[in-house]
Amino acid sequence: MADEAGNQFDVLILGAGSGGYACALRAAQLGLSVGLVEKGNLGGTCLHVGCIPTKALLHAAEVADATRESEQFGVKATFEGIDMAAVNAYKDGVVSRLFKGLTGLIKGRGITVIEGFGTLTGPQTVTVTSPGETTDQRRSYSGRHVVLASGSYSKSLPGLEIDGTHVITSEQALQLDRVPASAIVLGGGVIGCEFASVWRSFGAEVTILEALPRLVAAEDEDSSKVLERAFRKRKIAFKTSTPFQSVKTTDAGVAVTVEGGDVLEAEVLLVAVGRGPATDGLGYAEQGIAMERGFVLTDERLRTNVPGVFAVGDIVPGLQLAHRGFQQGIFVAEEIAGLAPATIDESGIPRVTYSDPEIASVGLNQAAAVEKYGADQIESLTYDLGGNGKSQILKTSGFVKLVRRKDGPIVGIHMVGARVGELVGEAQLIYNWEGHAEDVAPLIHGHPTQTEALGEAHLALAGKALHAHS
Ligand code: NAI
Repeated sequence: MADEAGNQFDVLILGAGSGGYACALRAAQLGLSVGLVEKGNLGGTCLHVGCIPTKALLHAAEVADATRESEQFGVKATFEGIDMAAVNAYKDGVVSRLFKGLTGLIKGRGITVIEGFGTLTGPQTVTVTSPGETTDQRRSYSGRHVVLASGSYSKSLPGLEIDGTHVITSEQALQLDRVPASAIVLGGGVIGCEFASVWRSFGAEVTILEALPRLVAAEDEDSSKVLERAFRKRKIAFKTSTPFQSVKTTDAGVAVTVEGGDVLEAEVLLVAVGRGPATDGLGYAEQGIAMERGFVLTDERLRTNVPGVFAVGDIVPGLQLAHRGFQQGIFVAEEIAGLAPATIDESGIPRVTYSDPEIASVGLNQAAAVEKYGADQIESLTYDLGGNGKSQILKTSGFVKLVRRKDGPIVGIHMVGARVGELVGEAQLIYNWEGHAEDVAPLIHGHPTQTEALGEAHLALAGKALHAHS
């Protein structure tokens, strides 16, 4: 229980993003007293400047495309343009409703929210400076257990200065009050591809610059290929194997020089070269927490090297995804409560890129599976969405690809196409339950749904494809 002065807790959490607030909610549910320190808004990056607002923009983009392309479906509509103020009002409305809900939930569970900037000043102590206070007004709080959950920030490159006007991060891109006429997107990873997709649908000329040989390089090579084909068709330009060299601001925006000397011009440059751990100046290293390149090192039970101190979310090396943070937060709360939860398998975490088309995956891509088990132990099967009724109705193309160990379980599922993000729920069950094609094949999928494509792919792998030429 919190002590009488209200500054001692069973669990003291630094950061109320996905990882921190999930930990707080679960710990409170388990009867532990919880202090939750936050300098900004409850919900962190995901809710305010990440997942939620970007997916709202992507939905507005989908509506714009549906309007433009309505005649394909016999519907007469005229696309008149994007009213960015109204798009932002819609986006901000979604965020504020969820924020209100979360604030109510946190309050309802009896969690003490401590507003202000916290630093770790002892292995069990967080010192907080509240807004408007000077450092001598700082207050200290202690926790039997401390959970570090300070999240991440948009990285830049050496010599690349973010000016917030012409050279912007994804946080700033979310606040734009206009659709840029043209944009260069630096980095063809998840953020780069999502923003390129939004801006193209909103009418901008977009060019992606990517240092690696393909877009979304962490995904299966086949997924990159299909995305690149779709982007070409949508007239989203991209240059792969093209590292950034320098940028100059011009009257009209930016002039970007890439390695090799080519210069590209546009109104804005979005920097999407990854997110770094927000750990600088928070006292972690000073308290002896083991760190590497700014990330906090933990064991598989998310314990740091300092007894009683845990870490969750984007500051822990691995996938920087909100749902990983949620699960880690829940895990740590249960660990502290003595429930001995099962450890988290990183490759069992589903991944979705919400561009048009979407990419979704879980488990190992083919190259990683071959590396882990050997080429002779792995086989794969690709089912084309051309054979799936619902996908034809939606006029989308793409595939479901299964990777399995020969005579063994499915070790990877990879999908591309409109709405495939929603299929990752079933895909992750198959992977995490170590399903075999023969287990999934007899299961019935609703017709006509895109989930049938998953069913068909497993039928085919089990040697009994229904809607395919054998
Ligand atoms: P990322 O790591 O996915 O992609 C960054 C890209 O920038 C890489 O492909 C990299 O090769 C490229 N790059 C780096 N330096 C470069 C250079 N000098 N020149 C050209 N290209 C260069 O990181 P991103 O897209 O910034 O996203 C950050 C994090 O946020 C990721 O971990 C991602 O998983 C997460 N996120 C997840 C979303 C989702 O799940 N839908 C949406 C948005 C972000």
